[in-house]
Amino acid sequence: MAFVHKNMLGLENASADDIHFILDTAKSFKEISTRSVKKVPTLRGKTIVMAFWEPSTRTKLSFEMAAKRLSADTYAIGASGSSVVKGETLLDSIRNLEAMGIDLVVMRHKQSGAPHFLAQHIDAPIINAGDGFHEHPTQALLDMMTILEHKKTIEGLTVTLVGDIAHSRVALSNIIGLSKLGAQVRLCGPFTMIPRFIERLGPNVTVYPKLEDAIRDTDVVMMLRIQKERMAKHLFPSNREYAMTFGLNAKNVRLTKPGAIIMHPGPINRGVEMTPDVADGERSVILEQVNNGVAVRMALIYLLMGGGK
Ligand code: CP
Repeated sequence: MAFVHKNMLGLENASADDIHFILDTAKSFKEISTRSVKKVPTLRGKTIVMAFWEPSTRTKLSFEMAAKRLSADTYAIGASGSSVVKGETLLDSIRNLEAMGIDLVVMRHKQSGAPHFLAQHIDAPIINAGDGFHEHPTQALLDMMTILEHKKTIEGLTVTLVGDIAHSRVALSNIIGLSKLGAQVRLCGPFTMIPRFIERLGPNVTVYPKLEDAIRDTDVVMMLRIQKERMAKHLFPSNREYAMTFGLNAKNVRLTKPGAIIMHPGPINRGVEMTPDVADGERSVILEQVNNGVAVRMALIYLLMGGGK
């Protein structure tokens, strides 16, 4: 199969075959990160810009590692320290970078749709590293890779997403991707954080008002961070009340299927989304998700720079 996409803006435009192809490629790249010299010459001489207009630890660092492990040169630009603070537009900034000769842009922005807008105006491929509360496709890809490593298949699994579904780009990309691969997706959270009509995303998507019902006999639980930075007002009374109603703890985690895995995209609010014993417990695969992030991003950079043809 050939990978024919110019950009990775979201999983909305990816087929199930595309997703499997990216994950198979990531699987083959994963071994490189275990070598004593974690580098291959595949993208020597190529230039990749990390344009992060919002904070990031995992995504930014793992994209940089991914690019460097493929021997590409990387350069970073962000809101502070760039001429954006002097009033330069996003489009002008990226056009100026393009004039310097770049081969790919990885972009995070607080505005939903910002990478889609840029993609219409520049020639270099763009990878969306998270746009507002829209999509975060590489997070969902690394989540699916982690699920596949534990469960062998996604078809027929029950995956429960808990928390701030409304403001979570991780949630939307996972709902789209997991549904395309045939999972049953359960959503749970305060009713103020569940978008109306979300079940219209597909017949596999179901909303559960109560956490206990949502996680009962599920194969995977994905806890989501409360995105306070994207809320005009707080949509629940207090962290304590949230943790009591929607937090995962040593007692309620037993309702899941034996062997169920616990996921979180990070950063975690310990004691809010989940207790520390669950976050660090034997079912937690949170650091495996982070590890798979490098392989998935290597795969995607490689495929968008011609490796899939
Ligand atoms: N999961 C994720 O996107 O984390 P960062 O915000 O640290 O990149």
